[in-house]
Order: sequence, then C-alpha cells, then structure tokens
Amino acid sequence: MSISKQYIENSKKRFFSDPKSIDEIKRIREEAAKDPETFWSKEASNLRWFKKWDKVLEWNKPFAKWFVGGKINASYNTLDVQIDNKKAYIWIGEDGSRREITYNELYNEVNSLANGLKDLGIKKGDRVSIYLPMIPELPIAMLACARIGAIHSVIFSGFSVDALIDRINDAESKAVITADGGYRRGKIIRLRDTLEKALEKCRSVEHTIIHKRIGMNIDLKKNEYLWQDIARKGFCEAEEMESESPLFILYTSGTTGKPKGIVHDTGGYLTLADASTRWIFDINDDDVYWCTADIGWVTGHTYVVYGPLLQHATILMYEGAPDYPEPDVWWDIIEKNRVSILYTTPTALRMFMKLGDDLITKHDLSSLRLLGSVGEPINPDVWLWYEHVIGKDKIPIVDTWWQTETGAALLSPLPGIRLVPLKPGSSTYPLPTIDAAILDEEGREVKPNTKGYLVIRKPWPGMLLTIWKDDEKYKQVYWSKFEYYYTGDYAMIDEDGYFWILGRADDVLKVAGHRLGTMEIESALVSYNAVAEAAVSSKPHDIKGESIVAFVVLKTGYSKDGVIDALKEHIKNTVGAIAIPDEIFIVDKLPKTRSGKIMRRLLKAIVSEKQIGDVTTLEDEASVSEIINAYEELKRAL
Ligand code: PRX
Repeated sequence: MSISKQYIENSKKRFFSDPKSIDEIKRIREEAAKDPETFWSKEASNLRWFKKWDKVLEWNKPFAKWFVGGKINASYNTLDVQIDNKKAYIWIGEDGSRREITYNELYNEVNSLANGLKDLGIKKGDRVSIYLPMIPELPIAMLACARIGAIHSVIFSGFSVDALIDRINDAESKAVITADGGYRRGKIIRLRDTLEKALEKCRSVEHTIIHKRIGMNIDLKKNEYLWQDIARKGFCEAEEMESESPLFILYTSGTTGKPKGIVHDTGGYLTLADASTRWIFDINDDDVYWCTADIGWVTGHTYVVYGPLLQHATILMYEGAPDYPEPDVWWDIIEKNRVSILYTTPTALRMFMKLGDDLITKHDLSSLRLLGSVGEPINPDVWLWYEHVIGKDKIPIVDTWWQTETGAALLSPLPGIRLVPLKPGSSTYPLPTIDAAILDEEGREVKPNTKGYLVIRKPWPGMLLTIWKDDEKYKQVYWSKFEYYYTGDYAMIDEDGYFWILGRADDVLKVAGHRLGTMEIESALVSYNAVAEAAVSSKPHDIKGESIVAFVVLKTGYSKDGVIDALKEHIKNTVGAIAIPDEIFIVDKLPKTRSGKIMRRLLKAIVSEKQIGDVTTLEDEASVSEIINAYEELKRAL
C-alpha cells in the first residue's frame, strides 16, 4: 500500500487541503449511528409523501420495512414535483443522433404510457418486464410502471432467449415492453424476435408493447401493440404506494443456476437513492451528469434513473459501446456536451488506458469536476491514471462500492458532505449509519489490514426486501453464514479505517463489470446436447477484470470437432454474448470432491496459475493433472 500512503500525503497538499475532514466525517457517522432512525427520517423528509409514515423502521430480522404507514410514488417524486423545461436527458445515439428531453416532456411521455398500460388492464402490483436498449423509452417505461404501481423488472438487452424465459416466468410478468431492435456496434439487435422466441415458453404474458426504435416493419400478432398506438396523452394519476411495496425486481446472478429476483421497496429505496446521489455526486443545477452504466443493471436504475432524476439533474445517456463508432467517442461527447461528472467502470478505464492517452488528451475535458468508479475493484494504477490523464490531477475520484441487493452505494467518498483524502483503490468509509465490518470465518472482527468477509450489521433504507417469491432463499443466501447481512465480498480495513474491497468470496464472476454466476453458465453449457458436464471458472484479465474459462465433458459418442465454436454460439443464443467463455476446454473428467461437488477453487487456481493448495478432498486426483495438461497444451499452442 505504499502508493496510497504517498498519495494521501500528496492529496492533502493538492486539492483536499483540510486535514480535519476525516475527523469530521467520523463525527458525522458517529452522530448518525447513535440514532439511525431519526437520521433517515430527516433524509426521507426531502421526498414528497402523500402520507407521512407512522414508524421509521420495522425490523423483523432479516426483513426490514422502512417508513411504515407512509404513502409515496416514485414517478411523482421524480417528475410531478419538478416539472420545468430543464433538460432531464440528453440522449446520444450510436449514429450520432441526439434527443433532448425536458422534465416537462418526460412527465408527458410517462403519463401517456402509464395511461396506455392502465387501459390494457395493468394495475398496482402487476409485474411488467422491460426489454429495451439504452434509449429514453427505457426510463420512460420504468417511470410509467412506477406511476401506476406496477413492479418493473428490467432485463438487460444483451440477454438472450433462455435468460428472458427465466426472468419473465419467475416474475410472472403480465406484460413486456420491448423494441423492434437496438443498435450495437452498427449491427441491429432484433429484440422483439428474441422476445417472441422466449414468449413461446412464458404463459403469464398477456400483452407485448413494442417501441419502434429502428423502424422495422412489424407484423403485429394478437396481444402485441405498438407503443405509439397504446400511449394516450393526458394526465395519469400517480398511485399512492405503501412505502414498503415493491418498486422493482432486478434479477442478478448468485451461486445457484437460476438468477435471483432482488426486490426493492419504494420509500426506503428512494430515500437512499436520493441521499446517496446528493452526498456522492453533489449535483449542481448547471452540471451535466453522465453515468455510463446500462440501465439493465442496478447502477443504471439508481444512478441513471431514480437518483439523478430526484436531484433534478441533466443526465447524459449514450446508446453505444465506449469505443464505437470511434475509439474517442466518449471524450468527444464529454467535450461537446460539457459533461461535468463522469461515473464509469474500471473495465472501461482499463480499455482506454490500453488505447493510449492521445485519444483523450486531444479533447478538452475541462468541464469535468468529479469522477466516479463502480462495479469492480479498481486497481491503484488504473485509479492513478484516471486521476492524472482524465482528471488532470485536479479532480477527486469517488470509488463507490455497492450491489444490486444494497440498492445504492454504501461505501464511498462523499464530496456532498465532506471529502476525505482519497487512496487509490479504496472506497474510503461507509455512508452514515451503514454498519460495515470485516469478519473471519468464525464471525469475529478481523484486525486492520486483514482480509475477511464484508458484512453489514444493521438494516438500511434501500436494502433488498427479499428474493422474489423466495423468503427462504433470501434468508439462506444473505443471513445464514453470519448473523448479519453477508455481502459475498472479501474486504479489509486499513490502519486509517479505510475500506478495501478485494473481490468476490463466492462463485459470482465479474466480467467487464457484469455480474454472472458460474452455475448459470454451467447450466447453459449442459443444455447443449453434446455436453454431459461443465465447470466454469475465471482468470484475471487485464481489461475485463476477469475472463470466463469453461471445462466441459462431452457425452460418449460425441466428437470434439466444432464443439467449441458451437458452444460459444449456444451461449450467445441462450444467455447472451456477455457470458461467452473466452476459453473452453474439452476434458474427460472434472475435479470433484468425494461428495460430488466440482472444485471450482482448484480450476481457478490452475487457470490463474496460482498454487493449487489442498486437494485431499478430491475424488479423483487424476482429473487435476488432466486439466493442468489440457491447459498447458493450449498455452503451448497459442
Ligand atoms: O464484488 C462487488 C463488486 O460488484 C458486486 C456487486 O455487483 P452488482 O450487483 O452487479 O452491482 C454492481 C454495481 C453496484 C459487489 O459484490 N463491486 C461493486 N462495486 C465495487 C465492487 N468491487 C470493488 N469496488 C467497487 N467499487
């Protein structure tokens, strides 16, 4: 950690000259921790409630209800209370086209779609899946659902048929909102066609609403409607929702084969989204704020839609990939739109680092005043590069740690309260009242600078309500390893109390910031007819953070010829392109414990070229040498 110590000294001298800020933030946190309920009720009061809550928190461990008795609506809070002609979204298409949508226009669009959904019979509590690319219709669809009290479940547009089936069926969605297609690197992604295949296996869906993004000729089937045909202009009353009623479900990968439907409430989630956006990004009226995340993931929900809209921000949205159509498109966008806050991922930064600084330095980035990072650990060298090349050594970086489950960032520097000196790679301290700790296997707090499991010991507003339709799984996944909320992450706290996230402690992968479960990819591999068994692991990758490595055993009688390419295609068509393994090895057997569990830890050690460690529990030690040989052979062939 030598860089950090050096950095902290430098940063004190440079732009954070107030050495008292650490003490001040500690004092604010201590004060808040004495009475979290009063603290959060003050924060919740920044929102508009139709009816004030009777009780701040009802904690029936591990189930939390925040602001019980309160009535609120997310669409009303983001729109009705702040209708004006300020730009809400500046949207830039992959082809350079541009749309600007004011708060007033957004309000009208949301009301029209909400009317249309209501006319179709969609009502409070119904689930609506949303399968749209990064276009303004995506936040419009979310807010229209929120307006009438329907629970939205956004499905990332990069997912394919099987991923859609799982998510739509689990939520038992009554309607799906999609587009004819979207663009990705100049190619058309035919979303409606993919959805149609999925719907053959989804019984709950009564209506499909299609937005014409690319202007394809659509032959409408029964129960399919064009967005423009159902949208009905005029006011739509915002439903008065109980604070603890679900605002959305977002599916995420865990350690089991099926994705988990993470359920978020309305009042608690909005309170945390609002407060955290204010503290972390401190958005001013003239800021142009750009969070580069796709709305299909939680970062997009909280920091492209709800958080910044509650702050009445001008939000930039870009449809394309970071390096398409030109490798400097992002920096061009920042220059031309005078973007002042940039919130992005380490994967994107590593890619730009590789492409060379000239792409960036040739642009005028003087409008930037705050930088952010999210989704995966940011390596100190990438952090320093971000600060130097993009921030010109003048701009702070907020490294925000959080998860789909936490609703919003829980560990982060907080320029909106008091910015502490930064250390490259650390997300500094927990937000006020967030009781984060690092425990060892036995549940004891570890000493400073010791790796352990990150837990949160007290409930917080915005925490997940449960896993959709599966309270037992919720208890088992998050509350059985320790008596506290278990994050699944390794972390440590240094001698100054700063937190360092050290990666996942379970079988969850982070590939280019996307969260994927090993078991999910394994089930998709096994669903291919030639495959008998599969094991998925990952190894470090210098841009994506991790890359997927798969080992498969073929059924007897099947030839190896062409299988690897066919499997890659199969994954693309079932889960989606983001889950395609970089490497697939065909082996005769997999390393398993005597009880039959695949030893992924061992696979990971082999592919990462680390010490293999203890293999005494292995059923068949020969499988280890086979995998090592297969791996060595491939490396030689490269
Ligand atoms: O491992 C942590 C990593 O991303 C996981 C959560 O992934 P997801 O639910 O997809 O949400 C991502 C966006 C919030 C965490 O368990 N992670 C997230 N942010 C950071 C991080 N790892 C290190 N540093 C971060 N800032």
